[in-house]
Amino acid sequence: MKQTIRDLQPAGRTAFLRVDFNVPIHQGTVTDDSRVVASLPTISELSSAGARVLCASHLGRPEGRRRQELSLETVAAVLGHHLGRKVLFIPESHGPQVAKWVAAMEDGDVALLENLRFAPGEEKNDPDFARQLAAPASIYVNDAFGAAHRAHASTVAITRFLSPAVAGLLLEREVTSLSRLLGRVDRPYIVVLGGAKISGKIDLMESLMERVDAILVGGAMSHTLLRAQGIETGNSRVEEDRLDMARHILEKAAARGVDLVLPVDHLAAPAVDSGTVETTSGAAIPADLMACDVGPRTVDLFSRRIQEAATILWNGPMGIFENPRFAAGTRSIGEAIAASSGFSVVGGGDSAAAVRQFHLGDGFSHISTGGGACLEYLAGRSLPGLAALAEKDS
Ligand code: 3PG
Repeated sequence: MKQTIRDLQPAGRTAFLRVDFNVPIHQGTVTDDSRVVASLPTISELSSAGARVLCASHLGRPEGRRRQELSLETVAAVLGHHLGRKVLFIPESHGPQVAKWVAAMEDGDVALLENLRFAPGEEKNDPDFARQLAAPASIYVNDAFGAAHRAHASTVAITRFLSPAVAGLLLEREVTSLSRLLGRVDRPYIVVLGGAKISGKIDLMESLMERVDAILVGGAMSHTLLRAQGIETGNSRVEEDRLDMARHILEKAAARGVDLVLPVDHLAAPAVDSGTVETTSGAAIPADLMACDVGPRTVDLFSRRIQEAATILWNGPMGIFENPRFAAGTRSIGEAIAASSGFSVVGGGDSAAAVRQFHLGDGFSHISTGGGACLEYLAGRSLPGLAALAEKDS
């Protein structure tokens, strides 16, 4: 990132600050505010430098319509709580009313606009909508790493209407940490992958094969790889329509000399919430059981590989960790990575949530706030939000 907020003299100016406050909300309460917390340094820095800080974000996927349950008003209160000051909630994202609210702000004040995706122009990357968003501001700051893979009005088109357009401190930190994994890394470089689907991670896996020494796979995606090798998977979740893709991955790993390590045992039960949990005797899963977590021998095997690693990337849980019956694998693998003295990064929504749930954050070199953005970045793709800033730099 060439230009960041450190290059700005924002006193007395209004900064349009794109953040990713797409946080989980349950019954009107924000259940995980880590994305809000992650943007606090940028907000505080701009505010103490005397800028009027106009934060803007999407929340959920309202598809261009106002949906009250996806209002950002609740998040404004959470932000205010963390900043220890009042955050003005502006119930629109654009238009003449916004200009009036902004005119009443004083230097150092912080406001949050209503959900950008209530307007159809946001996801269409509509230049006219972007111009309206830009109207009350004179500086653009992007701190929304989690949305950098979206070419939307507030991440791309808006940069045509505001100069300077620079990165916030979170965006800078994400790119600095994640780009380390794309360059020359200390070896062994081990990747731990989990989660439900191979299909969502195929690009990442293909690109990782070029760089890593071993890929340890848990979660339901490992079942698809086991089945592709002809191993019984019982009632476990398998992507039946991706078995060819799984075979391709196995062949590619073998051809490139990348160690693709699959579970050697599982915790399995007749159903996620009921029936006795059994540890399978091997990689095969009995006909009437579904595997919901990796087993203790797999934990040992993966933990030993993690201990030897100098660089570790973790994406995706090892099982259904939200259920206490199947939390052990994800927790133990998280603990093993947290105990490592190597450079460790956790990316992706679910595994980052697990790190927080098990209070392991201090043991990680970097916890990415990006889900899809993190996967795409690590797969070597250009992210439109970053490209738009880079164009302004050049
Ligand atoms: C995310 O949660 O990954 C980002 O906020 C992007 O959200 P989206 O997938 O709805 O664009």
